[in-house]
Amino acid sequence: MKKIVVLTGAGISAESGLKTFRDSDGLWENYRIEDVATPSAWEKNPSLVVEFYNIRRQQALKAKPNAAHSALVKLEKKYDVQIITQNIDDLHERAGSKNVLHLHGEIMKCRSSKDSDLVFPTKNDGLKMGDICPKGSQLRPHVVWFGEMVPELPHAAEFTSQADILIVVGTSLVVYPAAGLLDMAPHPIRKYYIDPNAQPRNNINNLHIIAEKATKGVPELVEKLLEK
Ligand code: APR
Repeated sequence: MKKIVVLTGAGISAESGLKTFRDSDGLWENYRIEDVATPSAWEKNPSLVVEFYNIRRQQALKAKPNAAHSALVKLEKKYDVQIITQNIDDLHERAGSKNVLHLHGEIMKCRSSKDSDLVFPTKNDGLKMGDICPKGSQLRPHVVWFGEMVPELPHAAEFTSQADILIVVGTSLVVYPAAGLLDMAPHPIRKYYIDPNAQPRNNINNLHIIAEKATKGVPELVEKLLEK
């Protein structure tokens, strides 16, 4: 089976009602990254950080996978599909994708602030200050903040370097190291970039731009790849 790696960003969940970060009225227009998504934000005002991610979690719980998430599941009929998502929502899993790697963490989980291996499902009513791990330290959202290591990067790089086809969906490709995965894909393979605002990237060989929203562009591409 040929291997397809799909790198997704906030744009694939936009039509499920979840805000992106950098579009107009995106999350980073209403919050400052340094207030809610950095280790120093956590040191200065952990309650605000917890509140920010509890809202993200509530919204993700209300959202449903859309036609783009579902089309990627269909690809598994004919291909070995690995999703690499920058999203912290669980819409790929709820659509039914088998192999999902979360580069920036998962909003439905929390972890110890002292020992990053201690990861737990977040309780139904969200995370609270005073919720502690078995070692006694405050639980934090299981997400990767700006300025932190991206522990899943080596796995993501390995998958990407072995891909026969790469599909990129709904990401501005401005955040590294995620955006750098494009450079790690084998030079000659076919690469597709589905995003209404996708810009050509001259340094990437064989990049085919599909300037469409995810719910149109992804199902159309999937049909084409299944026909091949
Ligand atoms: N279909 C496809 N793409 C869309 C749609 C849609 N319906 N709506 C918007 N987009 C595209 C935008 O054109 C943009 O290129 O989604 C992209 C969203 O970009 P960002 O907001 O920058 O989100 P993303 O690339 O996922 O951000 C990367 O930045 O803040 C961090 O950790 C956060 O994982 C996130 C990372």
